[in-house]
Amino acid sequence: MNGSKSRTSEEQGDFYPVSPRKDWSVGLLRIIWCLIVFTGGAVLGLSLGSQYNHFLTTQTTEIFFPTKMYTTNCDKESLSIKNFVHPKHILHDLTDEELFWRATLVPKMEGYPYRRVPKVAFLFLSRGPLPFAPLWDRFFKGHERFYSVYMHSVPNYKLNVSESSAFYGRHIPSEEVSWGSISLVDSEKRLLANALLDFSNERFILLSESCIPVYDFPTVYKYLINSEHSFVESFDEDSPRGRGRYSRHMYPDIKLRQWRKGSQWFELRRDLAIKIVADYNYYSIFSRYCKPSCYPDEHYIPTYLNMFNGKLNANRSITWVDWSRDGPHPATYGNENITVKLIQSIRNNGTRCTYNSELTSICYLFARKFAPNALDLLLNITSRVMNF
Ligand SMILES: *[C@@H]1O[C@H](CO)[C@@H](O)[C@H](O)[C@H]1NC(C)=O
Ligand SMILES: *[C@@H]1O[C@H](CO)[C@@H](O)[C@H](O)[C@H]1NC(C)=O
Ligand SMILES: *[C@@H]1O[C@H](CO)[C@@H](O)[C@H](O)[C@H]1NC(C)=O
Ligand SMILES: *[C@@H]1O[C@H](CO)[C@@H](O)[C@H](O)[C@H]1NC(C)=O
Ligand SMILES: *[C@@H]1O[C@H](CO)[C@@H](O)[C@H](O)[C@H]1NC(C)=O
Repeated sequence: MNGSKSRTSEEQGDFYPVSPRKDWSVGLLRIIWCLIVFTGGAVLGLSLGSQYNHFLTTQTTEIFFPTKMYTTNCDKESLSIKNFVHPKHILHDLTDEELFWRATLVPKMEGYPYRRVPKVAFLFLSRGPLPFAPLWDRFFKGHERFYSVYMHSVPNYKLNVSESSAFYGRHIPSEEVSWGSISLVDSEKRLLANALLDFSNERFILLSESCIPVYDFPTVYKYLINSEHSFVESFDEDSPRGRGRYSRHMYPDIKLRQWRKGSQWFELRRDLAIKIVADYNYYSIFSRYCKPSCYPDEHYIPTYLNMFNGKLNANRSITWVDWSRDGPHPATYGNENITVKLIQSIRNNGTRCTYNSELTSICYLFARKFAPNALDLLLNITSRVMNF
């Protein structure tokens, strides 16, 4: 069904406008800003007696300066478990190398010295706008303790959402992505790594701007948290678009019989997410030898998991997509196509899937692709067919 298509990423051929990388002047400005805040506060504090020092510096700076501008860098770094396991700020100045290293630290001790409520990390990979943000917000509402949201887009994109939205302030430091190149894998690893910094994130699901949920949050949460397997599509296809994309240069590190293909829209357990972020050897083989018409995002993770962690993978995707029409792209559903029946058939069309070695009627939790103009109708039917 999916296998015969040349591309599962519909975004092929779109390139982001070039925009400057991290601007050094912003960094410099921030340092100067910190110095001013710090020295200003310290002088004031000292002059008013040392026992009030701490109180005054924190109080006065908060009155004169907007909190967000300095807390990221200037906060006195106290080593509290809370800040360590749940980093308060999503923004950071880490390079990918530093970030990936930090993200792959694994505790040696069993258990946690705090009450850990496992969370599902929703990783949104988008060029910019998220037309279905209102639908997702309704999906997330009331379940704040059980999820985290991360978004990767073009650098410096500003998402226009209200402070009450689950997407507010959830934009990770992003880089340019050109679809079909290894930079797409980079952005996936960057999303995973940022989400790994929060030690409570247990499951990691990659979604696009054209994805929607088809079940309510409690169902999705239970399904993912209780699953023994990750949901990464991974299959062997004896065709030019499957095995044909294998390069002999990958031998002997990767053998043809180990080569796999699958949709980029993965769902990973925490241990596998760490392995993917930590891997450099196989990543670099893909970045060298998997170039169009080989697409790393369709082969790297499916092949890597097959080689090392096949037993932990369900080998199927939980994101529904319609390849029934011929052509290189999956079908897009717009407002004229949205019906209760359509959503119902995605939720359950009579086919059963294996889940923890048993059969279930729930095969898909999410679906793509939907056009932005489908939003109003979808919002109109959520309570009737999706229970939220
Ligand atoms: C942001 O969204 C609000 C409400 O939807 C709208 O009124 C405002 O014009 C938007 N701002 C920008 C910069 O797009
Ligand atoms: C997925 O495929 C692997 C081979 O890579 C296999 O070992 C594993 O059992 C499969 N998973 C399930 C749930 O069947
Ligand atoms: C959506 O509806 C339009 C108009 O009825 C139709 O042409 C198109 O094939 C439909 N698309 C899908 C994906 O069903
Ligand atoms: C149900 O969906 C599966 C997967 O998309 C498809 O293979 C199957 O043909 C569908 N069955 C029916 C009865 O439509
Ligand atoms: C939403 O559904 C109601 C009936 O439940 C209908 O009257 C209304 O027109 C619908 N709105 C849209 C935008 O389709």
